[in-house]
Amino acid sequence: MAEVTLPERVAVTGGAGFIGSHTVELLVGRGRRVLIIDDLSHACPWQPPADVELLVADCGSDEAARALTDFRPDAVLHLAARGGVQRARRDPAAHVRAAVASTVGLFRSAVAAGARRIVTASSGGAAYGRPPRLPASERMRPAPLSAYGASKVAEEVYLACTGREHGVSTMALRYGNVYGERQDGTGEAGVVAITCNRLVAGTAPVINGDGRQTRDFIHVSDVAAANLAALASRREGAVNIGTGRETSVHQVVTTLIHLAGFPGEPDHAPALPGEVRRVCLDTARARRWLGWSARTSLDRGLRCTLAYFQAAPRPAARD
Ligand SMILES: NC(=O)c1ccc[n+]([C@@H]2O[C@H](COP(=O)([O-])OP(=O)(O)OC[C@H]3O[C@@H](n4cnc5c(N)ncnc54)[C@H](O)[C@@H]3O)[C@@H](O)[C@H]2O)c1
Repeated sequence: MAEVTLPERVAVTGGAGFIGSHTVELLVGRGRRVLIIDDLSHACPWQPPADVELLVADCGSDEAARALTDFRPDAVLHLAARGGVQRARRDPAAHVRAAVASTVGLFRSAVAAGARRIVTASSGGAAYGRPPRLPASERMRPAPLSAYGASKVAEEVYLACTGREHGVSTMALRYGNVYGERQDGTGEAGVVAITCNRLVAGTAPVINGDGRQTRDFIHVSDVAAANLAALASRREGAVNIGTGRETSVHQVVTTLIHLAGFPGEPDHAPALPGEVRRVCLDTARARRWLGWSARTSLDRGLRCTLAYFQAAPRPAARD
């Protein structure tokens, strides 16, 4: 049975980013006090609500630890992360130093500041590698195919260890392929945002590989709702956050081409190394433990996202 008590004071690392901004808006809408810790290395074009505190710092820094101690969070939601599969692949050791080290530091600071609940963002798209069956279930052993996936699983292990060592309740949310309004369309991850960005600019979308690779595409509003459900719960462990549906990249790109009325075909580029071939996520545990399930259909989510890109000023490339 899902618990419904949302903590009063929540610190959100990476709260100025894509998933973070949507989550912070929901928390503030529910009357919660929020501290964002974000180094703004990849922040959204978004202004946090006026009563939200913002510390611009690395989430694993001493400065962040002091801010957490002052804020006294009931719960911490850890969304800060730098880059995805391709960035981590280029320099895995640097990725560990930047991402995993900051994450472990943050977990220690959260405990020291008195947080009773820590929820971290993991990746259902990367953690399972080549799952023996689909949809991939949390009961399957993680077997990532990339340095990014390995770092996410490592962070899950550190979090569970932190929980056992300090008696703090913890959960890792294994997101599917999150898409939606405010996602960066100028980077190398996020096929929906990148495609929208190209369509709005009048250029043909690019599909890496044959396009038959599949993902569990989930709209950011559903992920933000899952984050709140996880903060409110006392269940512990890993939980998939997806739709349970497998959709090919080709299908997503051609749907967006159709919605945009683009008069052409997608271009093809070589497949990217380290990317999984097929994935979708078993969501039974999310329903059971969190009382959560996705509500936004892919069609509606893609329409909203494209409309956002069509209305937004053309963005400058973000790191
Ligand atoms: N977007 C997806 O499809 C997806 C899928 C699975 C998992 N995730 C995970 O969800 C989380 C949020 O992803 P997102 O798509 O919102 O990314 P994002 O890049 O939009 O947001 C991350 C935010 O963290 C900040 N940041 C980065 N490193 C930091 C650090 N060391 N200290 C403080 N702030 C830092 C950035 O400035 C940015 O605002 C990440 O952990 C990501 O790995 C995302």
